[in-house]
Amino acid sequence: MVENSKLVLITGSSSGLGFELARLFAKDGYDVAMSGSSERIYDSAKEIEKLGVETYPFQADAATYEGVEDFWRFVENKNRRIDAAVLNVGISIGGAFLENDLAEELKLIDINISGMVHMAKRVSQHMAKNKSGDILIVSSLSATLPTPYETVYGPSKAFGFMFAEALREELKENNINVTAMLPGATNTDFHHNAGMDATYFGDENHKNDKQLVAEQGYEALKQRIDHVVCGDEATKKEAEENRRTAEDVKAARHAEKAKPQ
Ligand SMILES: NC(=O)c1ccc[n+]([C@@H]2O[C@H](COP(=O)([O-])OP(=O)(O)OC[C@H]3O[C@@H](n4cnc5c(N)ncnc54)[C@H](OP(=O)(O)O)[C@@H]3O)[C@@H](O)[C@H]2O)c1
Repeated sequence: MVENSKLVLITGSSSGLGFELARLFAKDGYDVAMSGSSERIYDSAKEIEKLGVETYPFQADAATYEGVEDFWRFVENKNRRIDAAVLNVGISIGGAFLENDLAEELKLIDINISGMVHMAKRVSQHMAKNKSGDILIVSSLSATLPTPYETVYGPSKAFGFMFAEALREELKENNINVTAMLPGATNTDFHHNAGMDATYFGDENHKNDKQLVAEQGYEALKQRIDHVVCGDEATKKEAEENRRTAEDVKAARHAEKAKPQ
C-alpha cells in the first residue's frame, strides 16, 4: 500500500458499473472499499488489487438497514480518511405493476432510496469533518422520464438525481462535491437481473459500453460537474429531448421498449 494513499468507498462494486468505477479509482491510486451481496465481492476485490492498491471487500445486503450500517462501520473502523464515495448499488424490476411482487418492489425502494440516503448520511458527515470529499451518486437516464413496466425503478432514480443536486448545494460550504451520474442503458447484468431479457433492453446491441459510461461519470466527478448523462451521442440527445417532451409521450415510448414481448 502507498503511504497516504486515498480511499474510495463504492457500493455494489462486485460487477457492472461499480466494478468499472473501482477500476478507474484504483488506476489513479485509490484504495477501494467494495460491497456486494454475494461472495463474488472477494474475487472482484482481488482483481482490483492487481492494479497495485489495497481493497476492503465486504459482503452485505444493501436492502437492509444492518447491511448498509455494517458496511459503513467496517470501512469506518479502518480509521482512514474516506476521500470519495460512489453510491452505486441499485436494482430494477421489469414487468407489469399489477403482477409484480410487492415485497420485491419495496426491496427496490430499500436499496435505491433508503439505503442510498443511509450511506449518504454516513459519508457526508465523515467528509464534513475533514472539509473535503467527492460523492458520486449513480442515478439514470430513467430519472428524466416515466418508466412503465419498470414503474417503481424510474422514480427511484429521479429521487437519486434530485437528492444529489440538493445535497450538492448543501455540502458546498464543506468543500464536498456531489455529482449525479445518469447512464443510458448499459451492457451490464442489470436488465437480466431485472427479468427484462424479453424486452428491447434484453438486446445488448442497444446498450452503451460500461467502460465508457464509467469513464464519463468518473471524469465528471473529477471536474466537479453537478450531473452528467453517460453514454453515446444518441443517449445524450435523448436526455436533451426528454427535457422538451411531455411526460405522457415519454411514458408511451418507454412502455413499448420495456413491456415484455
Ligand atoms: N446498466 C444500466 O443499463 C444502467 C443504466 C442506468 C443506471 N444504472 C444504475 O447503475 C447502478 C449499477 O448498476 P449495474 O448496471 O452495474 O448493475 P449490475 O451489473 O446488476 O450490478 C449491480 C451491483 O450491485 C450489487 N448488488 C445488487 N443487489 C445488491 C444488494 N441487495 N446488496 C448489495 N449489493 C447488491 C451486485 O453485486 P452482487 O450480485 O454480488 O450482490 C453488483 O455488484 C444502479 O444504481 C443502476 O440503477 C444502470
